[in-house]
Amino acid sequence: MDFEKLITERYSVRKFKPEHLPQEAIDKILEAGHKAPTGCNYQPQRILVLNTDESIAKLKNCTKCHFNAPTAMLVCHNRKESWIRKYDGALSSSVDAVIVTTHMMLACKNEGIGPVG
Ligand SMILES: Cc1cc2nc3c(=O)[nH]c(=O)nc-3n(C[C@H](O)[C@H](O)[C@H](O)COP(=O)(O)O)c2cc1C
Repeated sequence: MDFEKLITERYSVRKFKPEHLPQEAIDKILEAGHKAPTGCNYQPQRILVLNTDESIAKLKNCTKCHFNAPTAMLVCHNRKESWIRKYDGALSSSVDAVIVTTHMMLACKNEGIGPVG
């Protein structure tokens, strides 16, 4: 998809079809996350793919912001694997996770899948 069109048309989807995503689409979205920049390329993100009725039911116990999406990806970060800024000890892993998430959201749009955002 053309990049200008992609970033213009991306929006936070709030209503979803009930089908879980196929593995092929999940793999493409994860790959986009893997290609995102992270501090020192330490890749501290850990992504949990929730793509079963059982795992989505657990998610619904944790947040109201699930919008009945049939598939979810939880982007976490391992602080122990973070790049640490020397002069003040700040960790980059939470910033890394956000950048990874943004890449994945744009990949969703590129696949014709609406991200919650
Ligand atoms: C840091 C951040 C926090 C957000 N928190 C919520 C939230 O708690 N609930 C929600 O429905 N949307 C949330 N959003 C989505 C924004 O409301 C949404 O991106 C914004 O209204 C712009 O709409 P668009 O994404 O469709 O362009 C959040 C977005 C960001 C970047």
